[in-house]
Amino acid sequence: MSTYRIAPSILSADFARLGEEVRHVVAAGADIIHFDVMDNHYVPNLTIGPLVCEAIRPHVQVPIDVHLMVKPVDRIIPDFAKAGANIISFHPEASEHIDRTLQLIRDHGCKAGLVFNPATPLHSLEHVMDKLDLILIMSVNPGFGGQSFIPEALKKIAKVREMIDASGREIMLEVDGGIKAENIAAVARAGADTFVAGSAIFGKPDYKAVIDAMRSQLAAV
Ligand code: DX5
Ligand code: ZN
Repeated sequence: MSTYRIAPSILSADFARLGEEVRHVVAAGADIIHFDVMDNHYVPNLTIGPLVCEAIRPHVQVPIDVHLMVKPVDRIIPDFAKAGANIISFHPEASEHIDRTLQLIRDHGCKAGLVFNPATPLHSLEHVMDKLDLILIMSVNPGFGGQSFIPEALKKIAKVREMIDASGREIMLEVDGGIKAENIAAVARAGADTFVAGSAIFGKPDYKAVIDAMRSQLAAV
C-alpha cells in the first residue's frame, strides 16, 4: 500500500500573502508544496520564479515541488536548486536533451521528474526510468488552475503505475489538474500516490476541511 501525499498548488493561493498561505496549508496537512512555473511561451500564462521559491522556503519544512512549464528548461534549474527546491520536473517537449536535463537536476541535489500533458505519449520514459524520482501526469492542459479533470488521464496513470512497478524503483506518481475530494479516490485507484490540488484547496475557506475530506476518501481506497 502506498503512502499518499497531498500537494497543494500555490497557483490558486493569495500571492499577496504567500508566506502565510504556505504556512497555513502545511498546518492544514499538506505534505508537499506544488510550485507552478509558467513562462508565457511554453504555456500561455506567466507566474513565479526562483525569487518567489526562495522567499517561501523559510516558511515551510515540507518539500517544494517545482513544476516547470518553461522552454528552454536547463538555464533555470540551478537557480531553483539554489532557491531551495527539492523536486524539479519538466515537460519532455521543452528539453532538447531529456537525459541531460534529468542529470542536471540530480547534479544540483534535487529529485527529478518528467511531466506528461494529456496528449503527450509516454515513450520518452522508456530509456530514463533509472534517472526519475517522479512522474507527473497532467489531467488538464497546463497553463491555468481551475480546469476540469480529463478522465482519459486515468488510463495513462494506470499504465505508468505498471511501468513503475515493473522498474522496481521508488518513483512517485503524481497527478495534476482538476483534483478534488470527489475524484481523488478514482485517481488513487488508477495508481497515483501524490495529488496536486490548487483551486480545490486554496479556493476554499477551510483548507484543513478539504485536506481531511481528501484523506478520508483516500483511506477508503
Ligand atoms: C496547471 C498547473 C496545476 C494547477 C492545478 O497548469 O500545473 O498545478 O495549479 O490547479 P487545479 O487543482 O485548480 O486544477
Ligand atoms: Zn502543476
